[in-house]
Amino acid sequence: MATTIAPAAEGTIEVNDTRTGQTYTLPINDGAIRANDLKKIKTDDADDPGLLSYDPAFLNTASCRSAITFIDGDKGILRYRGYPIEQLAEKSTFLEVAWLLRHGELPNQSEYDSFVHDITYHTYVHENMRKFLEGFRYDAHPMAMLNSAVAGLASFYPSSRNIMDPVERNISMIRLLAKVPTIAAYCYRHLKGLPFVYPDNDLSYVDNFLSMVARMTEPKYQADPIFSKALEVLFILHADHEQNCSTSAVRAVGSSHVDPFSAMSAGIAALFGPLHGGANEQVLRMVEEIGHVKNVPKFIEEVKGGKGKLMGFGHRVYKSYDPRAKIVKALADDVFKVVGVDKDLEIALELERIALSDDYFKSRKLYPNVDFYTGLIYRSMAFPTDFFTVLFAIARTAGWLAQWEEMLLDKEQKIARPRQIYTGPAERPYTPQIEHGHKVAGAKHKKDALRS
Ligand code: SDX
Repeated sequence: MATTIAPAAEGTIEVNDTRTGQTYTLPINDGAIRANDLKKIKTDDADDPGLLSYDPAFLNTASCRSAITFIDGDKGILRYRGYPIEQLAEKSTFLEVAWLLRHGELPNQSEYDSFVHDITYHTYVHENMRKFLEGFRYDAHPMAMLNSAVAGLASFYPSSRNIMDPVERNISMIRLLAKVPTIAAYCYRHLKGLPFVYPDNDLSYVDNFLSMVARMTEPKYQADPIFSKALEVLFILHADHEQNCSTSAVRAVGSSHVDPFSAMSAGIAALFGPLHGGANEQVLRMVEEIGHVKNVPKFIEEVKGGKGKLMGFGHRVYKSYDPRAKIVKALADDVFKVVGVDKDLEIALELERIALSDDYFKSRKLYPNVDFYTGLIYRSMAFPTDFFTVLFAIARTAGWLAQWEEMLLDKEQKIARPRQIYTGPAERPYTPQIEHGHKVAGAKHKKDALRS
């Protein structure tokens, strides 16, 4: 017997369940079937809960509908709200892109000016945040500091928990976009043992960030226009990337209706991972470990032998050159014309040259991703290697916020709570293997010089 589950817009698939002989017609909409429709496909067992879809790491699962970013992995296309990334990188500013990602349209002049004003006048953080950051060790990883501080912002703005209030949501989004660079710069200054530099409201978003990072005794910081432009472009390139790991984390945590500071902190945590935003840091460490162009062939052979990965290569979606990597590579050429080509860039270029011609990488469709060259530019700007992902997080805050709000306003969304395929033991009686109340003997320190 055929069961039609729902009227279809594009077509249907016929599913024949050989366990029961039943046939089901599943509707196809937007190139997808609803996983929930599978639940109606059951065996004759009255307790059968129905079929699940099983997709570890969500390789082929759409978690949402989104109008923010479009990626075509095979064609190497990336667009923010329909605008090609190449055009935005060349002509736009990071704050204009941040507005576009959230609102769906480019701002007009008065919208833009008012937005820039709001961001500029919310760059300060509470003095207690400065003291909080001063509590970290001198060698703390700045991503751990940034993550803690952003989560801590929730304690300064309790009204941010009113996430369905558009006024509260707006000011929280302004505060996050404005304060993340300040906190990031404070982390940098703490690690350098330098006094914090307060925001300078006369400067642009990027130049103010560079001022908080680099100003010393001069009364007004003058950013190098090459670095200022490079950072503006890199922030635009890193602003959003549809349902990547960290954005999915923000959406999942945000779906519990927690405040946006806590949701963004989940994104920072995910981005910290070496397979995600942490890759730009790992690329530099990999290049430094290779040490010389002559060592590249041996390193490539080791990767092909399964010993480690070619960091900055490969992507879950791009099965061709990441369009952002192309732009970053061109940017690197500009920056290195100023600072001079260094051996690490030569190593990176040789890695790319060999990998792009080697069947191991070609057969796996492994191409440079956005992280492959960014680290080289950040390093040329004298940012320490472990700070690279912090720069990624500053930019991605714009995308996380836009995606977070889109999730909140999406009528189809509710708290994220996936199912599982249980593989554990069947029911069994509790029989304790230990004697409860048993006093555990005090743990003895192993003998060492400091303890008798
Ligand atoms: C970002 O999702 C996003 O959009 C992320 C991002 C964004 O803007 O938010 O674009 C930013 O995170 C870019 C990716 C940065 N990460 C890295 O550069 C780390 C190195 N890359 C890999 O770890 C990997 O390519 C991933 C994590 C990026 C993607 O992994 P997938 O899609 O799960 O692919 P996979 O691990 O299943 O790899 C398929 C095959 C495997 O070989 P086989 O087991 O089939 O023999 O390719 C191999 C992998 O071993 N492979 C690599 C490799 N990446 C994959 N082999 C060597 N070097 C690599 N870099």
